Parts: sequence; C-alpha cells; structure tokens
Amino acid sequence: MINVGIAGATGMVGRTFLQVMEERHFPVDQLYLFASSRSKGTSIMFNGKEYMVEELNEDSFDKPMDIVLFSAGGDLSKKYAPIAKEKGIVVVDNSSAWRMEDWVPLIVPEVNSDAISEHQGIIANPNCSTIQSVIPLKPLYDRYGINRVVFSTYQSVSGSGIAGLEDLEKGLSTTYNNLYPHPIAYNVLPHIDSFLENGYTKEEMKMIDETRKILDDQNMRITATAVRVPVKYGHAVSASIELETAFELDEIFTLFKETDGIKVLDDLDNNIYPMPILAEGKDKVYVGRIRRDFSIDNGLNIWIVADNSRKGAATNTVQIAELLLNK
Ligand code: A2P
Repeated sequence: MINVGIAGATGMVGRTFLQVMEERHFPVDQLYLFASSRSKGTSIMFNGKEYMVEELNEDSFDKPMDIVLFSAGGDLSKKYAPIAKEKGIVVVDNSSAWRMEDWVPLIVPEVNSDAISEHQGIIANPNCSTIQSVIPLKPLYDRYGINRVVFSTYQSVSGSGIAGLEDLEKGLSTTYNNLYPHPIAYNVLPHIDSFLENGYTKEEMKMIDETRKILDDQNMRITATAVRVPVKYGHAVSASIELETAFELDEIFTLFKETDGIKVLDDLDNNIYPMPILAEGKDKVYVGRIRRDFSIDNGLNIWIVADNSRKGAATNTVQIAELLLNK
C-alpha cells in the first residue's frame, strides 16, 4: 500500500485518475487531493471514503506521499514537480512541461515500459493523440521498420477540458464561443494549441517529437496535422505509414490482434470500424480501416480511436504508477 497525492484532483483528468485507480484496485493507503484555493474544502469520494481537497502550495509535499500524479496544467507542473521530487516523492506528470527533457522518461507502458528504470523522480505521460498512435506503430516498427508517418488527427473538445465541452454544447444552440478562436459547433478547426514559427501548432510538434522519443528513433520522418472536431469524448487519428519492408495485410491484422492494448474493429461488410462513441469510457486503443496505401510501396493506412481522457491521459498515468509499484 502506498501514499498517493493528486495535484489537480478536481479537474477532468484528476477525477478520472481517481475513477481509474478505483477500477484497477490501485493499492492506496493515504490519499491527498490538491487543487486551487477555489476548491479548498470540496469533498471527493474515493473507495467509499470522503476526502477533502486541499489548496496546492509549496508545503503540500511535506505530507508523507510516495507518488503524486499531476494534471493541473504545465505551469503548475513546472513549479511544483521539482519540489515534490526534492522531497523524494515520485511525480507522474500528465502535462507537457517535462516530456522532452532528456532525463525524463516518456512512457506508454505497452510500448516502452523499460524506460522507467532510468527515472530520476519525474516521469512524463505523453500527449493524448501520441499515446494512442504509438501503440499500433510499435509492433509495425519492430517487425517491418518505418520510413515515414503522416498523422491527421480528429480531436474531441474534452481535450480542452470543461471549457471545450462548454463551447461545443452551448454553441449548438447559440452563438456562444469562448475558448476557441472560432465556433467549434458545426465546424472543424485546424488549430490545436498555439502556432509556432515553423507553421505547425504545438500539438502537431508534440506528436512528432514525442513519437520519436517513445520509439527511440530521432530520425523517423513524421508529419502531423491536428484538428479539433465537434465531438465530446474520444480522439481519432488517421495514420499513413510507409514501412521499410514488404508486408501482407493479413499479417498486419494478426499483429494488431496480438498487441497488448489494441482492439481491432474492422468488418467492412457490417460497417464496423472505430469511432469515438465506441471508445468513450474505455481503455483500449481501437484500430480499423486497415488497408494498403496504393500510392507508395509498402504503404499502410490505419484509423486509430481512443478515449483521450482515459487511455490518452488518466489510465496511462495510472498504468505508469503501477509500473513504479512493480519496480
Ligand atoms: P480547480 O478546480 O480548483 O480550479 P481542468 O484541466 O479540467 O481544467 O483541471 C485543472 C485542475 O488544475 C483542476 O483540479 C484545478 O483546480 C487545478 N488548478 C488550476 N489552477 C490551479 C492552481 N493555481 N493551483 C492548484 N490547482 C490548480
């Protein structure tokens, strides 16, 4: 049994941490919940017991915690993760603050769990679209090699938290539009996170840089377009993959069926393929529309869907904490 802290416990991902830990019977002894001063004193149930939310501050990590899961935004992770680490508490961080630091393992347990052995007190949980994409890429990479990947994402508004859901829900019947620069209702936005000088968005560069880091191949050729769509929960990714060597389609089906974390949904006669409404609330990565890209040699197109708040965030973070327990 271990003592666990949650920073950002009242947020969408923070609450999902608790739900996932309950479901997976994570062996919690003491639990400490932290959020902003606005939430101080709010009560949250966990395993049938009531816990009070405390305000996150520099003294929070004087409490006897073994692990703290962070999902309170990048700025707070930057500020507080080193304080926790200093006090000997292992941080598993869901923000992008630490992901690209060389000394910080960036982990998807089905793909690179071994990287955890090198941790120095902070472990990063990857970007939501990256997590669901590297799970099918890994067995392809190991068996055939990968020359190039083109990612196009279709990302739900819950990826922006409560405010994203509000823009969609209210925008369906009014002109309400608060978070995004344009209405998301009845629209799609080729714009997630801020624009960079190279013309890409930060979200697109996260997919490129994090995929290379997780697959441990800095030279892999990857490009990405990340798009926000008017869907509440669940991200979809179209991946066009140029493999290094020849493949048979039935080998690919078998490979995905045997891969931990994947469920293949691909039965065209019955209109069965992955969709966000099927993935919502689930922890699997759904893969379908598996077909050749006839425009190049060794080209493969796949369609990947997962629940961004679960496998794309909370579940993956809790799985990382489980790896720590088993270490
Ligand atoms: P609070 O609910 O008190 O604002 P989400 O990503 O769903 O918006 O959640 C963000 C999480 O981060 C919430 O738990 C939120 O707490 C927490 N948070 C936001 N600002 C702060 C802050 N200044 N100090 C501590 N926690 C914060």
